[in-house]
Amino acid sequence: MNSVKRCRHSRTRGLPTLLAGALTLALTLTGGPATAAQQGTLHELAAAQGKYFGSATDNSELPDAAYTAVLGSEFGQITPGNSMKWDTTEPVQGQFNFAKGDVITDFAAQHGQSVRGHTLVWHSQLPSWVGALPPAEVEAAMTHHVTEEAAHYRGKVTAWDVVNEPFNEDGTFRTSPFHTAMGTDYIATALRAAHAADPDAELYLNDYNIEGLGAKSDAMYALVSELLDEGVPLDGVGMQAHLAVQYGFPYQMQANMQRFADLGLDVAVTELDVRMQLPADAAKIATQSTYYRQVVEACLAVERCVGITVWDYTDKYSWVPSTFPGQGAANLYEENLLPKPAYYAVRTALGGEGGPGEGGGPGALRAQYRSSDSSTGDNQIKPGLQLVNTGGTAVSLSDVTVRYWFTADNGASRYSTWCDWSPIGCSSVTHRVAALGTPKAGADHYLEVGFTGGSLAPGAATGEIQLRLNKSDWSNFDESDDYSHGTGTSYADASKITVYVGGEPVWGIEP
Ligand code: G3I
Repeated sequence: MNSVKRCRHSRTRGLPTLLAGALTLALTLTGGPATAAQQGTLHELAAAQGKYFGSATDNSELPDAAYTAVLGSEFGQITPGNSMKWDTTEPVQGQFNFAKGDVITDFAAQHGQSVRGHTLVWHSQLPSWVGALPPAEVEAAMTHHVTEEAAHYRGKVTAWDVVNEPFNEDGTFRTSPFHTAMGTDYIATALRAAHAADPDAELYLNDYNIEGLGAKSDAMYALVSELLDEGVPLDGVGMQAHLAVQYGFPYQMQANMQRFADLGLDVAVTELDVRMQLPADAAKIATQSTYYRQVVEACLAVERCVGITVWDYTDKYSWVPSTFPGQGAANLYEENLLPKPAYYAVRTALGGEGGPGEGGGPGALRAQYRSSDSSTGDNQIKPGLQLVNTGGTAVSLSDVTVRYWFTADNGASRYSTWCDWSPIGCSSVTHRVAALGTPKAGADHYLEVGFTGGSLAPGAATGEIQLRLNKSDWSNFDESDDYSHGTGTSYADASKITVYVGGEPVWGIEP
C-alpha cells in the first residue's frame, strides 16, 4: 500500500504558474525599469514541482484576519498544531470532542488545502487518565482512541502522524504508557487501527532530529524496515525539522531522505522552523535562510519527498520563545506578517522568480503596501508603505526613493503631503508630489518618498510609513483606477510601487 497514494496533497497549479512566469518575462523584456514582479505562492511554486507547501496553525490564531489571509492563500496544506492531540480530542476516557479539529478541517476545505492529522499516539499532551490506566487496559484505550479519531476525520485528513516521537535521542525507544504496556508492538497496533478506520489516509511515523544521518534516524530506519517487512500499513516518515542556527544543518539530509524513499516510503518535512539565539543579526539571518533553502533543495531532490510544512509561518505564533527562552525568530514571516529573507530563500529554492535570495545588494529592496483608506472617492489618498531589505548588505536610506503612482482627477494642481506616523520617525521621511510630463495609464502624478538618513540592515524593514496627500482645493480623487492603488489591508509586496537607489530602479514596474 505504500506506493500508490503519492499525489493527493498537491493542488497542481502548473499552468497558471507558467502563465505568470511568461507575464513576468514579457514585462521585463519590454524594458520596464523593474525587477521581476513576484509570481506564485509558495504552494503554487511547490506544486509546480509536484510537492505541497504547508503551515501549522492553531485555533487561537484564526480570529487574526491578517494571519488567516496569508495562511489561506500562501499555503496548500495545513497541520493543526494542537487541536487533534489526545488531550483535546479525548480529555476524559470515552468522551470525544472534535470541535477544534473540525474548525481546522473546515478552514482547509474553504481554502482548498489538504490537512495532515497530528497526532494520534504521543507521550506528550496526553490526558492524565491514560497514564493512570492499568497497563492491561492501555491497548484497548489506544485502539479505541485511534479508531474514533481516524474515523471521524476520514476523508478530511490526507495523512496522519499516527505515532509521534517514538525515540529517544540515542535511538532507544522512548518510555510512554504505550511502550510500557505493549513494548514496541504499540506502533504496529496503532498503525493497523488507523488503517482500519481510514484506509485512504497516508500513515506516518513522525519524529525530530531524524532529518540527518545519525543514531536516531538509524533507529527510525530500522523500525520502519521491520514494519514494512511485517506488512504493517505504513506510508511515510515525517521529519519534523525543528532546526537551530547554532546547532548546524542536519548531516546529509538528502541522503537520509533518500534511504527512506528507497524503502518505498514517502518522506515529509512536517514541522520546519529554524530558531536562533536572540537578538538576530545579519549572520544568523543568512544562516537561517541557508538552512531553509537547503531543506527545500533536499526535498526537491528526493522524488518521494511529498512536501514541506513549516511549524507555523510567522514568529507571531511560534512555539519557540516559550520553550527555549532567549531563542526565536524561527519562522518565514516576522511578527507583523512581513516575509523575511528566509521566505525569499525558500521562494528562490522552489524556482520562484523575483526573489533576490540571500546576499543581494540594494537590488534586494522591496516595497510593500497596504491601503489605509476605506474610501476610494474622497479627498485624500492614504498609502501605507514599507521597505524591506531582503539582501545581505545594508542599504543607506538617503539613497532611496519610492514612487506611488496615481491620477489627479479634476481639481487643483497643487498638493499637500503628510507623513502621519512611522516607527522610523516621520521627521526622517520626505515626501512630495510630482507631475508626469506624459500621462500614463493610471498615473499622471506620483508621490515620491525619500529619507533624510538612516540605513536598513539585512533582513530589516522600515516598518510602516503612513502617508497621506490631498489637493489644495480638497477636491475628490477617484483612486479606483490609480496605478499603485490596491485594496489589501495588510502589508504585501507591491510591484506597482517603484523603488530607486541612487536614482536607479531596483523594485517594481513603472506605469
Ligand atoms: O490552550 C492553553 C491555554 O488555555 C492556557 O492559558 C495556556 C497557558 O499555558 O496554555 C495553552 O495551551 C498551550 C498549547 O500549546 C496551545 O497554545 C500549552 O500550554 C503549550 O504547551 C502547547 O504547546 C504546544 C507544544 O507542542 C506542546 O508540546 C505547541 O503549541 C505546539 O506547537 C507544539 O508542537 C509540537 C508538535 O506537536 C510535535 N513536535 C514538536 C512541536 C513543538 O514543540
